[in-house]
Amino acid sequence: MNLRLGVLVSGSGSNLQSIIDASEKGFIKSKVCVVISNIPGVYALERAKKHNIPAIVINHKYFKTREDFDRAIVNKLREYNTDLVIMAGFLRIITNVLLDAYPMKIMNIHPALLPSFPGLHVQKKALEYGCKFAGCTVHFADSGVDTGPIIIQGVVPILDNDTEETLSKRILSVEHKIYPQAIKLYEENRLKIIGRRVIVDPPLSPEESIFLTNPMIEK
Ligand code: GAR
Repeated sequence: MNLRLGVLVSGSGSNLQSIIDASEKGFIKSKVCVVISNIPGVYALERAKKHNIPAIVINHKYFKTREDFDRAIVNKLREYNTDLVIMAGFLRIITNVLLDAYPMKIMNIHPALLPSFPGLHVQKKALEYGCKFAGCTVHFADSGVDTGPIIIQGVVPILDNDTEETLSKRILSVEHKIYPQAIKLYEENRLKIIGRRVIVDPPLSPEESIFLTNPMIEK
């Protein structure tokens, strides 16, 4: 499927960049049709512009309720005929207004191995907890904070000399691999949602990978 992706951002947009690159290289067939930020001036908007992708700011501060803000987002996504919504560092809790407009068509990425460490500053929390492994998760969004059905997870080690910065960087490099992979599986219609479980059907053929992911990364 050749999907039109609407990407929601709040920051640097390195995940957005990995998706744009995957699209331009043909790893995914889908194209980013619009990028929407809730914060003005973020670098993600510049990244979009460099690739001639419409870059739009919808500032949440100008809306009385979360629902009103989500209605504006939905209107903009519809204006660009979005098929699949990609939250890429979009630091907002979404409401049923957005979820009902795109049922099981909204993905989110989170820099932890859910259900451990939902919320913010999670790399620091994993480090301080003394975890030996950390990672990232792409999941379908629901009305909770980082709670929807899990599509793919990638694992990295936590090293004794790690800081929040070094660990975040290691996790981010895996994020950039698993998000395009999740989109590819979606556009190939290979994600079957059974309750909380997302089954990849047909499954990926086993391949060597430099880090551990489930499902594995296709090269
Ligand atoms: C990423 O690490 C992403 O997983 C995280 O924000 C960062 C955005 O980076 N998202 C969350 O914490 C959501 N709960 P980016 O703007 O460079 O893609």
